[in-house]
Amino acid sequence: MSPAEAAQRIAQLRAEIAHHDELYYRKAQPEISDFDYDGLKAELARLEREFSTAAGVAGADTPTRKIGDDRSEGFARVRHRQSMTTLDNTYDEAELREFHGRLAKALGAEDLAYTVEPKVDGVAVSLTYENGRLTRAVTRGDGEEGDDITVNVRTIRGLPAELRGASVPQVIEIRGEIFLGEDEFRRINQLQEEAGEAPYANPRNLAAGTIKQLDARLVASRRLEIVLYGLGYCEPAIVASQTAYHAQLRQWGLPVVEQFWSVRGIDAVWAAIRELDGFRRGFAYGTDGAVVKLDSFEQQRHPKVGFRGMAADGQAEAARKLSPRWACAFKFAPDRAETRVRDITIQVGRTGALTPVAELEPVFLAGTTVKRATLHNADEIARKDVRVGDAVLVEKAGEIIPAVVAVLVEKRPTESRPFEFPRECPVCRAAAKRAEGEVVWRCPNPECPEKVRRRIEHFASKGGVDIEGLGEEVVALLLERGLIRRIPDLFRLKREDLLPLKKSGEIWAGNLIAAIEARRTADVWRVINGLGIPQVGAAAAKDLARTFRTLETLREAKPEELVRIEGFGEKTAVAVRRWLDDATNQELIRDLLAAGVQPTPPAVAGSALSGKTFVLTGTLPTLTREEAAARIEAVGGKVSGSVSKKTHYVVAGAEAGSKLEKAQALGVPVIDEAELRRMLGM
Ligand code: IVH
Repeated sequence: MSPAEAAQRIAQLRAEIAHHDELYYRKAQPEISDFDYDGLKAELARLEREFSTAAGVAGADTPTRKIGDDRSEGFARVRHRQSMTTLDNTYDEAELREFHGRLAKALGAEDLAYTVEPKVDGVAVSLTYENGRLTRAVTRGDGEEGDDITVNVRTIRGLPAELRGASVPQVIEIRGEIFLGEDEFRRINQLQEEAGEAPYANPRNLAAGTIKQLDARLVASRRLEIVLYGLGYCEPAIVASQTAYHAQLRQWGLPVVEQFWSVRGIDAVWAAIRELDGFRRGFAYGTDGAVVKLDSFEQQRHPKVGFRGMAADGQAEAARKLSPRWACAFKFAPDRAETRVRDITIQVGRTGALTPVAELEPVFLAGTTVKRATLHNADEIARKDVRVGDAVLVEKAGEIIPAVVAVLVEKRPTESRPFEFPRECPVCRAAAKRAEGEVVWRCPNPECPEKVRRRIEHFASKGGVDIEGLGEEVVALLLERGLIRRIPDLFRLKREDLLPLKKSGEIWAGNLIAAIEARRTADVWRVINGLGIPQVGAAAAKDLARTFRTLETLREAKPEELVRIEGFGEKTAVAVRRWLDDATNQELIRDLLAAGVQPTPPAVAGSALSGKTFVLTGTLPTLTREEAAARIEAVGGKVSGSVSKKTHYVVAGAEAGSKLEKAQALGVPVIDEAELRRMLGM
């Protein structure tokens, strides 16, 4: 490559990476996988090194020397007391060993002590605790100044507002990662798709999108989680090593990584990384690598170790810190495989959403055989230009659902043509519709056999009334034989109806009828969830069940009663009322009751606490927060992380902070543990 060619490629890569940074950090909707992104950055870094003297290369404003800026509109900006740097990363064992080689040389020792931690695939955050009390939560931003997301972070249930114990510094910045668990990711993405919005590619993007919501109520309705591992500013200093710091975080009652290793020497580091790779899939958060850190803070601060600097206009290496030389991220390459698209089919969802699916030549990937991968929607297919017959790469990484990450255009058959998204439902042939501003095409026909089948399947599924033995195949069979047409028909099935369906089907028929009988009295929330009301997943169904207790009362729910439910926004309330107003749905409820369904209302345990929302703050004299929460929930109450007008009681203990102030400002009753115990009959 000539210097001129290199300069051109460098300019191209810089522009491309800037585009992907914008999508990843600000929009939380990346178009390429992390692995491909890291590949572009590695190529750029290599060219910048090799052609450092070419025109326009040195000292320029370049993404390899910058932190992807996440700051966005609508948030106050807060300066970090200590810069929030990023990390160098590698996928290569040899490069990891070079990292150690440099440190060993700088410090004059081979058997350096390191920690090896999971690299959590979430959204970086810095929490400030002042005298033990959480006062601020800020995103990384440009490394110096981030967005103030304190109100949103306060909704995270597992995060204590106060540090436990006496040994707390005056001011400490504690760094970590906000993430979403796999189940929660699926739940929200399903609602997202039902609402006609583009699904998030993976939990990390959804967590990033959530934490930047301006409506804290919406944030509270999603179960974000947090894990802490890093130290920023701290006055006075507390511990001398990363290992001791982890122990301190745990003592303060903060959520920490499930596991980390304290080891000596690079071989032990490598062994720990292999071990981590072996069981990282069991962690609550996505883990895309390992972070290796010099354990001793004194060694981290050694003048020969230091930091890489950031790019600044005209200056080669500026004073602003980019990444420490005492740490390195080793990333696990995603599991990828090449295969071919046999066909592109259209799946009709319960709500009529038409989802294109790539039917693949079966390929073995990360422990399972992959035969299908979602292509999300018409726009996605067009963007990637995926065609029938194409050779493609499929990947399972942060993406739990296998995704087509790239088309190998060079292997494309000559006769291939762009995929044309059908304009009608492939099942009932109704003309597909796409609402203004939506990406999803839908089948508008309420009687579409596929929608009917999926609705029944959903009703009987694990998250619905959970009828054992009534899965996809059986539902299809019952529909095909005309034994059921709608959900209530399930409860009118007789053993004799089922007998002819299978050879010597006595036992099967008996079991299925018994399973259906047993679920006539399923919990109300299961029935509500099973009805498939837009915007309503299991959590919202539980809220509805707690508030209205029976289907009969739910049917009469007033819009203002719906909006008052904690965690319900305007959107959910409207969706529920609209669904209830539909005559077909009213009839569905009537018919379910007529067919003898008698849902069980949530437990009250003889207390008046059912449906009441509590907020716990401060340290209670005897109960831990978890114990108090479990007790409240056991009698049908609810525990929330933040105080609002909808809160019924704030339970305050020692050193209660801003929640107590807020409760007083809003006139929410404040009680102590003794009072709570009386209420709970303890
Ligand atoms: S240490 C100065 N430890 O990955 C050291 N970072 O790619 C920087 N991350 O900016 C942070 N897990 O947002 C550290 N165990 C871990 C981590 C971790 C995830 C994130 C963090 C960091 C990014 C770098």
